Amino acid sequence: MKHLPSLLLASLLLAACSREQPAETPAPQSDLAAGKAVAEAKCASCHGLDGKGTGPDIPNLGGQKEAYLLNALNGYRTGARQHIALQQLSTELSEADVANISAYYASQKAATPAAMGGGDALAAGKVAAANCFACHGEDGNSRIKGTPSLAGQHPGYLKTAILAYKDGGSRKDAVMAAHVDKLDMVAVESIALYFAAQPAATREKPGVGDATLGEPLSGKCGGCHGQQGQSADAKTPSLAGQDARYLFTTMKQYLAGMRGHPEMKTMLAGVKDKDLEHIAAFYSVQSPAKAVIGKPTAGAQWAERCDKCHGPAAQDNSMAAPHLEGQPVGYLVKALKDYREGKRAQSAMHAMGAPLNDADIQTIAEYYASQPMR
Ligand code: HEC
Ligand code: HEC
Ligand code: HEC
Ligand code: HEC
Repeated sequence: MKHLPSLLLASLLLAACSREQPAETPAPQSDLAAGKAVAEAKCASCHGLDGKGTGPDIPNLGGQKEAYLLNALNGYRTGARQHIALQQLSTELSEADVANISAYYASQKAATPAAMGGGDALAAGKVAAANCFACHGEDGNSRIKGTPSLAGQHPGYLKTAILAYKDGGSRKDAVMAAHVDKLDMVAVESIALYFAAQPAATREKPGVGDATLGEPLSGKCGGCHGQQGQSADAKTPSLAGQDARYLFTTMKQYLAGMRGHPEMKTMLAGVKDKDLEHIAAFYSVQSPAKAVIGKPTAGAQWAERCDKCHGPAAQDNSMAAPHLEGQPVGYLVKALKDYREGKRAQSAMHAMGAPLNDADIQTIAEYYASQPMR
């Protein structure tokens, strides 16, 4: 025992002062054999008798913190955690059953973690983006006139753009729609991250228009896109270093209402085609922005944040933050989404879960799933 519970400590101190008072009897030892018997009857079909989950979404219980297992079971009883089968099952258990089962599973060996790479969002993004390279370049720098570069663009903007082609609402482009049609959210977000993280190349010659004539015409654009076309806002694209033919075509699309964005249409209203070409030329030859990712891309980096509570140094504190290592990926993904969506009550984890997108969750889950319990 590393820390004496404060109540017990206080009573020991009291007892030391006044000899007449006997020391409090310690709580009865939990009964591992009784815990094993209940586990065999009611839990082993899903959690194994050794605490190893028998399905891809069933958590491992072996080697988990006893206090956490106790909390979790009580969570199902009170409804703080929602899962119909477990809520039902937990009402059939007595207080003693819950204590004995928790002690029993905590005493079992931790499951061997799944062998997998994973936990690296940029590597996953590169794999998912393979079908995009022919047009946008493997490094996100397009070499085809009229096709945009994606390198160094804000990941948030790239995600919005991909989803706009996918649902065909504000952006209608048959080629792009066909390419992004089957991507799920994890793929969309990791592709966006991958391209955003690539350094954008500088362009010497715009190919259309005259950059010197374009500069004075760009005055009212800088407020959103940045003075030199390096946008500081995650929802607004950077224009610096972009293909000029693409910039020109896009502006025409806003004007014609083919790409839906009322603000952009207003901004460009009345500008002549020649001037649009000059503006495109100006932005095209500006030094491109450097990606602003602003969060970890690797599971190991995320874990530095999470290990404040979940790491070995925190395993003795009273907060009962569970071990995450070696859990099935599917279960970790579900748990993190449950916190994010408010389906699982716990304020500390709500705060951590809120900013995570699906790709972050996948990255973190793959990382912890592949780690041995510490
Ligand atoms: C029908 C399959 C099934 C059975 C039987 C079952 N469980 Fe579970 N258990 C699950 C699933 C699935 C979850 C994840 C639920 C969730 O997402 O909250 C879970 C979650 C848990 C958790 C939370 C683990 C964590 O890491 O947060 C504990 C503790 C637990 N079960 C204990 C038990 C005990 C004790 C029994 C027997 C009395 C039992 N379970 C029986 C499927 C089962
Ligand atoms: C056959 C060539 C081609 C392929 C393959 C392709 N794209 Fe595109 N992409 C284009 C063209 C052309 C445009 C400009 C479309 C328009 O006018 O809206 C574009 C536009 C985009 C944009 C908008 C950029 C901006 O600045 O708004 C994004 C984001 C994008 N593509 C992502 C992808 C992703 C992700 C893939 C792979 C899943 C992909 N593209 C595959 C040709 C392609
Ligand atoms: C009020 C803020 C705002 C102002 C001012 C503004 N823009 Fe935009 N612009 C945006 C946003 C937001 C988008 C992304 C819209 C979308 O998703 O299609 C955008 C998109 C664009 C695009 C498409 C880029 C791409 O990668 O697809 C071009 C080109 C563009 N703007 C040029 C201009 C020019 C030129 C001006 C000045 C005349 C200007 N914008 C002024 C907010 C603004
Ligand atoms: C401030 C402390 C704290 C931090 C930081 C924290 N957690 Fe937690 N976490 C907890 C506590 C406490 C629980 C148990 C909550 C409960 O009972 O639902 C928990 C539960 C979880 C669970 C559920 C495990 C299971 O077996 O069901 C997952 C998954 C998780 N955390 C992942 C993370 C990740 C990923 C991060 C970092 C991005 C993180 N946590 C950061 C305190 C923390």
